[in-house]
Amino acid sequence: MRDAGLVLPRNDPRQYDDLAGEWWRPDGVFAMLHWLARARAALVPPTTRPGALLVDLGCGAGLLAAHLAGKGYRHVGVDLTRSALTQAAEHGVTVVNGDVTAVPLVDGCADVVAAGELLEHVPDWRAAVAEACRLLRPGGLLVLDTLNDTVAARLIAVTIAERLPTVPRGIHDPRWFVNDRELVTECARHGVDLRVRGVRPGIPGLLRWMLRQVTGTATPPGQAPRIVPTRSRAVLYQGHGVRDG
Ligand SMILES: C[S@@+](CC[C@H](N)C(=O)[O-])C[C@H]1O[C@@H](n2cnc3c(N)ncnc32)[C@H](O)[C@@H]1O
Repeated sequence: MRDAGLVLPRNDPRQYDDLAGEWWRPDGVFAMLHWLARARAALVPPTTRPGALLVDLGCGAGLLAAHLAGKGYRHVGVDLTRSALTQAAEHGVTVVNGDVTAVPLVDGCADVVAAGELLEHVPDWRAAVAEACRLLRPGGLLVLDTLNDTVAARLIAVTIAERLPTVPRGIHDPRWFVNDRELVTECARHGVDLRVRGVRPGIPGLLRWMLRQVTGTATPPGQAPRIVPTRSRAVLYQGHGVRDG
């Protein structure tokens, strides 16, 4: 694997091709995406509506699918990266190769729209939010998580995190981090009352995970760090909200 951050510009989607073998490794460079997918899926209630559709914007390799099992949704994933979509399809996701700022799906088709760790990668995140809200049926649920546009997020998610062997260098461009208040305002403009809260990995689980990384021990099933709520939204935050109408 080349060090994508040294070869490609920050946030270049081709980095995901270089990292394609990492997606489904629980202790790989995308480990935290697994933890976040679990926390995001916890915000999605089981559906009682036959044929209910969940549209997963920027689905990557479909990590969310593992945590939606049994909830009753058809899982459609939209992403730019074909190498990731191939893996998502292997995990039962119906894939659409496309840009989240112009999704080729009809208005109001989705019972749930998920946008996990996506908006901070999209230079025009407002266009992605508009699409997410357009896809939701009235009463449909938006769930997302992203990085805040703060000094703290730049320090922790870029300056510090990228010095760790477990985080790909150059995967984030802090210019595209998303201010939480602006996101709430933008969702409201499109009819979604978004509630946001700060989240972070739970400290005991994170320390045990880091120790296992140092000793080269695989994480036993069910022992991955949990994502927990935290008072500060300054770094990482989760949002959920229902579309009006
Ligand atoms: C950090 S990954 C998150 C993947 C997945 N949501 C998860 O949590 O495992 C960001 C994903 O967004 C995709 N992406 C970035 N910009 C995009 C765009 N404009 N349209 C579609 N996908 C995009 C990337 O290809 C990548 O798969």
